[in-house]
Amino acid sequence: MKSAQMKNYGSSEVIEINQDDSVPDPSAGKVLVKVKAAGVNPIDWKIREGYMKQMIQLHFPSTLGMDFSGIMEEIGSGVTGFSQGDEVYGQASVVSGGSGAFAEMALANADSIAHKPKTLSHQEAAGLPLVGVSAWQALVETIQLKSGQKILNHGGAGGIGSIAIQLARHLGAYVATTVSADDKQFAKELGADEIIDYKTQAFDEIIHDYDAVFDTVGRDTYRKSFKVLKKGGIIVSMLEQPDQGLMDRLGVKAVYQFTQVNKGRLAKLAEWVDKDNIRVNVDRTFPLDEAAKALDYQKDQHPRGKIVLAP
Ligand SMILES: NC(=O)c1ccc[n+]([C@@H]2O[C@H](COP(=O)([O-])OP(=O)(O)OC[C@H]3O[C@@H](n4cnc5c(N)ncnc54)[C@H](OP(=O)(O)O)[C@@H]3O)[C@@H](O)[C@H]2O)c1
Repeated sequence: MKSAQMKNYGSSEVIEINQDDSVPDPSAGKVLVKVKAAGVNPIDWKIREGYMKQMIQLHFPSTLGMDFSGIMEEIGSGVTGFSQGDEVYGQASVVSGGSGAFAEMALANADSIAHKPKTLSHQEAAGLPLVGVSAWQALVETIQLKSGQKILNHGGAGGIGSIAIQLARHLGAYVATTVSADDKQFAKELGADEIIDYKTQAFDEIIHDYDAVFDTVGRDTYRKSFKVLKKGGIIVSMLEQPDQGLMDRLGVKAVYQFTQVNKGRLAKLAEWVDKDNIRVNVDRTFPLDEAAKALDYQKDQHPRGKIVLAP
């Protein structure tokens, strides 16, 4: 089978297409899936460039990719709840016990997958696992966002932000978001109530007394976000560790989120997506052979929503 592998850390030249990779056997607790589409995330190019090597040990060549949507091909012993031919989505990354999603076939840990949302195509579903679970874990589980509350979702045109806007609206919240000018209409269509152009407007001078901030950007955006919160408010960041000084001084809570994609969260996410007709915007699809290009596009071209690879 074909797979996109990295032979070392570096930029796009370290990615090679292996035309003759072996199809893995599903051992106990694992499944083999025919990949119909694989989603690209910023973590994929960060892994490629070695930013995560302290946390994630790789043996080269290593197949890239986490998120996928596909068809159940073989089921390892001890796995229940799935049948051959089921449409499933989830994660198959090497670090979560899989064989890598950027391939024609992928081994996945059965705890990292669920049945795919029925209303989404495979390409749309492949774009959902990491960003959808990130939004779900932050808004539903950590912030416990309630109807009538106000939330600022940064990066509203990005993978996580575009799902977070829709989820916050579903929970009945008033949603402000930061995007660049070109993405204002997109954020409006997703349901944002207040849209701030982060390149020309200072969000921290426009809105205040918010219950929550969901930060997918970090650095100055994170630090300035504390000004937006009311006393007792909460900020969840995908990138920054909590600043205890600011928390104490302002009487707010700050949480760093490490997203954990698991079967339970994926199943709840799929149920909500189907019920509410949620939109996963696929900005561009690349063939698997162009995995290197797809990672560079994700890194440099500011996609609206998601980038997907189709084997
Ligand atoms: N901790 C974890 O477990 C975890 C899990 C998943 C993701 N992450 C991280 O979370 C971040 C977001 O992920 P993603 O998949 O949503 O990435 P993404 O699809 O690349 O989206 C990022 C968005 O942020 C916007 N942006 C950039 N600078 C901004 C600013 N100053 N103010 C407001 N918006 C700004 C971008 O808009 P433009 O295109 O206009 O620049 C883009 O739409 C990434 O760094 C990723 O690595 C962490």
